[in-house]
Amino acid sequence: MYSDGSSTTHTGASGVLEGSRRGDSTIQVNDVHKAFGASKVLNGLTVEFADDAITTVLGPSGTGKSVLLKHIVGLLEPDAGAVRVFGQNLWRVSETERFALRKRFGVLFQDGALFGSMNLYDNVAFPLRKHTDKTEDEIRDIVMSHLKEVGLEQALDKAPNEISGGMRKRAGFARALVMRPDVVLFDEPDSGLDPVRTKLLSQLILEMHREHGGTYIVITHDIPTARTVSDYIGVLWKGRMVHYGTADETFGSEDPFVRQFLAGDAVGPLGMD
Ligand SMILES: Nc1ncnc2c1ncn2[C@@H]1O[C@H](COP(=O)(O)OP(=O)(O)OP(=O)(O)O)[C@@H](O)[C@H]1O
Ligand SMILES: [Mg+2]
Repeated sequence: MYSDGSSTTHTGASGVLEGSRRGDSTIQVNDVHKAFGASKVLNGLTVEFADDAITTVLGPSGTGKSVLLKHIVGLLEPDAGAVRVFGQNLWRVSETERFALRKRFGVLFQDGALFGSMNLYDNVAFPLRKHTDKTEDEIRDIVMSHLKEVGLEQALDKAPNEISGGMRKRAGFARALVMRPDVVLFDEPDSGLDPVRTKLLSQLILEMHREHGGTYIVITHDIPTARTVSDYIGVLWKGRMVHYGTADETFGSEDPFVRQFLAGDAVGPLGMD
């Protein structure tokens, strides 16, 4: 991973799940319940995400994918159950500690969530200026290398409203990576993109993971994206993780719900309600 000096191991798809089942993986969600008023969204959701791998979380619209992501980053508190990140229960630590844990995540929100008043360079530099005491020279090296990786070094002085949706997502991705996070979370990185740009973004996610390692969680309902990037796939339905397995296992699954969802079939156990 990023930690300077320490050895880098990228565990292949097989070894990872065993590790994640030991109960020591970086992100553990245990029997989480969450309701908004009368509407129960998470319903005893349990999952341990495989470390140093890309997991995609698939699920129909409105099923609680974004709510799950907000629990992982500590923006929402469970009504019951626990979310442990980096070995800490997010809601058994002080607010300061929770904030410190949150800083270890890179998050790519749906629209890139860039600051409209700043150009791309300043957007990507922002976390470094805010959370580190690096000099502007050091910041410049980091920002330029990331902008280059996402193919935006020519657009660094553009404002977010001067560039396309795909470019905004790539800039958001660069910004999510500058703090060298161990965990990167993506909420529908592909939404609103045409199929070609979706494919390019998937490839970029894969390349960046190869380059930097880390635990990636990608929320999507795009099956081709899941096919391209996943080491693991979790399927969320009605507030529970009804399936979690390697990509091969999942695409070969006999489970009627998983099959219906992956095939996008209208007929099957999955209804509109
Ligand atoms: N802060 C909130 N207050 C009230 N209800 C909420 C809140 N956040 C989410 N919900 C509700 O929780 C349910 C799940 O929402 P969520 O955004 O997690 O769905 P999703 O699976 O991400 O869907 P999509 O694929 O469309 O993004 C929805 O019914 C939504 O209206
Ligand atoms: Mg969502």
